[in-house]
Amino acid sequence: MDKIIIDGNRPLKGKVKISGAKNAALPILAATLLTHGKMELHNIPQLADIKTMVALLKGMGLKISSWANKMKVQSNGYAGTTAPYELVKTMRASILVLGPLLAMRGKAKVSLPGGCAIGARPIDLHLKGLEAMGAKIKVEHGYVEAEARKLKGAKIYFDQVSVTGTENLLMAATQAHGTTLLENAAREPEIIDLANMLVACGAKISGAGTSLIQIEGPTPLTGCKWSVMPDRIEAGTFMIAACLPKSQIMVQGIHPEDLEALIVKLEECGAKIEISSEGIQVKAPKKIKSRDINTAPFPGFATDLQAQFMALMTVAEGSSLIRENIFENRFMHVGELVRMGADIKVEGNSAIVRGLKQLSGAPIMATDLRASACLVIAGLAAEGITEISRVYHIDRGYEKIEKKFRKLGAKIKRVKVKY
Ligand code: UD1
Repeated sequence: MDKIIIDGNRPLKGKVKISGAKNAALPILAATLLTHGKMELHNIPQLADIKTMVALLKGMGLKISSWANKMKVQSNGYAGTTAPYELVKTMRASILVLGPLLAMRGKAKVSLPGGCAIGARPIDLHLKGLEAMGAKIKVEHGYVEAEARKLKGAKIYFDQVSVTGTENLLMAATQAHGTTLLENAAREPEIIDLANMLVACGAKISGAGTSLIQIEGPTPLTGCKWSVMPDRIEAGTFMIAACLPKSQIMVQGIHPEDLEALIVKLEECGAKIEISSEGIQVKAPKKIKSRDINTAPFPGFATDLQAQFMALMTVAEGSSLIRENIFENRFMHVGELVRMGADIKVEGNSAIVRGLKQLSGAPIMATDLRASACLVIAGLAAEGITEISRVYHIDRGYEKIEKKFRKLGAKIKRVKVKY
């Protein structure tokens, strides 16, 4: 198992190139199940979650070859319909194969993802939507089994905004007969990327990026060449790190409009932000001001950046109230930050952070993907040595994170540990 070791309290300076978005690449890979012909995908990040999705798709009969950040995907003729527990348990987003499998192969058997560190994360909205489109669904022995000879278009209202729920139904609807309307759909930029890729393959979709998406089906989908959008969460993580004392980072290759809520917040904290054709330049404030955040679906403040923002608030002036409105248990990083000296009190879905001058390095443990990015930022801010264990969490979603921070001047390394 690997550990990341950081000798903190040094300014970060330079340029960082952002990788392709994990949360766009996963649904786009799942969507290749819907296509006939060759797909060529670019800007695919090299991550553990992508490997899991590739393993799932290979088990379902896709031929996948990859080199650098590119992938070619094509059917090999076998039409598997099962997503086994061994793979699904390592990545909840495996549920994204449910809609495409059902739509193309008439049935799907997908292991229930179960809970995860950040909450129960049910999939009832995915199932309700597919039922409305005519699928027969049963949940037995830990698996969802769905069947449909023919899906039909339907009007589906999401009681709660769900990103992968919207994506699953959007993909299935491309093969349903008639019109599908997704109401109160998620508006995340990753949904636009998926929809645009499907349209490039021949799908008829309008409204992606708004809360009402309309899909006309069925349309046979060809292959296409697609470059995955940049990762706004990775970009946001570096932008937050750029607010640490005396730092200045140019974050390259991103879409500034995907990061509005964070840009506004970091400016309120005192950072100087300049947007140019090269990217977003973030210059640290002389003194970081505390600010409150409320996580919300896009375009609100992303829950996937809550933990990293909290790390910054531990060394800000004043107090910050952080409300987590999406996942009930997404404060696992608090205990670890407290081990580094942070002053944080959690009450229900709120955390009150009282800023200190400095954190002190300590041995700590990553608990989930975004929590581990928070701990890296805390380690960079802290005086002394921080050792982060269980970094396999970070490898699920951040490509070469320690190399990227090292290039910015951080003293950070990865070591193999034998237990
Ligand atoms: C996606 C992202 C994840 C991000 C999250 C919220 C991917 C691969 N993952 O996760 O990084 O943190 O969006 O922005 O894109 N819910 C239900 N029933 C359902 C589905 C969801 O109650 O059927 C609830 C969830 O428990 C949660 C909320 O809806 O409280 C939002 O979850 P959702 O948007 O579905 O998250 P994911 O798509 O799993």
